[in-house]
Amino acid sequence: AQLHTLALAAGLEYFGTATDNIELSDAALVTALSNLTEFGQITPGNSQKWDSIEPSPNTFSFEKGDAITALGAKNSQLLRCHTLVWFQQLPVWVQNGTWTNATLTAALKNHITTTMTHYKGQCYAWDVVNEALESDGSFRESVFFKTMGESYIKIAFDTAAATDPDVKLYYNDFSIENPGPKATGALNIVKSLKASGTKIDGVGLQAHFIVGSTPSKAVQIKNLESFTALGVEVAYTELDIRMTLPSTAALDAQQTTDYENTVAACVQVTNCIGVTVWDFSDKYSWVPSTFPGTGSALPFDENLVRKSAYFGIVAGLTGA
Ligand code: G3I
Repeated sequence: AQLHTLALAAGLEYFGTATDNIELSDAALVTALSNLTEFGQITPGNSQKWDSIEPSPNTFSFEKGDAITALGAKNSQLLRCHTLVWFQQLPVWVQNGTWTNATLTAALKNHITTTMTHYKGQCYAWDVVNEALESDGSFRESVFFKTMGESYIKIAFDTAAATDPDVKLYYNDFSIENPGPKATGALNIVKSLKASGTKIDGVGLQAHFIVGSTPSKAVQIKNLESFTALGVEVAYTELDIRMTLPSTAALDAQQTTDYENTVAACVQVTNCIGVTVWDFSDKYSWVPSTFPGTGSALPFDENLVRKSAYFGIVAGLTGA
C-alpha cells in the first residue's frame, strides 16, 4: 500500500504534498502527484500567497491558484490553502506601503475576505497567519506587526472565521517542532486567541528538518501534545529533511529514521491529523536553492523513484 492509503489506515485524515504551477507542465510529475493512494492532499507552494493573488491593490488574480485547486478537485484530494498573512512574498505595495493602523487593517481584511470567498468550499484548511514569530518567541517585525501590533493576528483570524465558518483556521510556523521559546510563543498565540473568543482550529508545524538533528519521536510527541492540550488539532505541514550533499549510505539511513520518527509521532498523537511533505520529488524541492550544498530532502528522487526515505515514512505510518 502507498502513503495516503497507509495514513488513512493509521487514523490520519491524509498524507499529502505541496506542488507548484511550474510542475503542472511535467507530465510524469502530474501523474505521480495525481495518484490518490499516495497523496490524498495537496498544498499550493506559492500560488495562493499575497504577491500572487493580489499583486496590486484590490486587483485579484486567481488563475495560478485555481490551476492547483482544480487539479486537486479533479483528483479528489483535500486542499490545504496557503497562506493569507505572511511577511514574505508580499507585493511591493504592501511591503513598502505608507500605512496607518486603519488603512492596513482595511487592506488585510479585504485580502482575506476576497481570497477566502473565492476559494470557499474548496479548502480543508487555511493557513491564516504564517511565521509570525522570531526564534526567541517574540513577534517578528513584519509590516503587519509594526503597523497594527500583535492584534493583526486576532483581526486576521476573526476576519477568516466571519468569511468562511466551515474551513479549519490554522496558525503555521517552522522550528516549533521542539519545546522551546518559539514553540512557547506559538502556544501563547493559541491561548490568547482562544481567551479572546477567536476561532483557531489548528497549528501547522512546518517541519523543515535536517538529517541527524531532527527531534526524537518522544520529543515530538510531547511537543505535539502541548498544542493539542489547548484544544487545537495539529499537522506537519511542510515536512522535508535535508542533508549536506553528496548523500551517503549513512546519511540516507539517518534520514530514513528521521522520517519514520516524525511520521510516527503524528500517528501516535490523537488530533495530529495529517502529514504533508513540501513537494515529493527532489526535482522540485526549494532546499538546494536556499541552502546551497544541501538537498536530497524528499522521499522521491529527481526521476520520481522512491528513496529509502519513502520507506521510512511507510514504517512511521505502519509502526513496522
Ligand atoms: O515567480 C517567479 C518567476 O517569475 C521568476 O522567473 C523566478 C526566478 O527566480 O522566481 C519565481 O519566484 C520564485 C517562487 O518561489 C516561485 O518559484 C521565488 O524567486 C522564490 O523565492 C520562491 O520560493 C518559495 C519560497 O517559499 C519563498 O519564500 C518556494 O518556492 C516555496 O517552496 C517556499 O515555501 C515556504 C512556505 O511558503 C512557508 N514556509 C517555508 C517554505 C520554504 O521556504
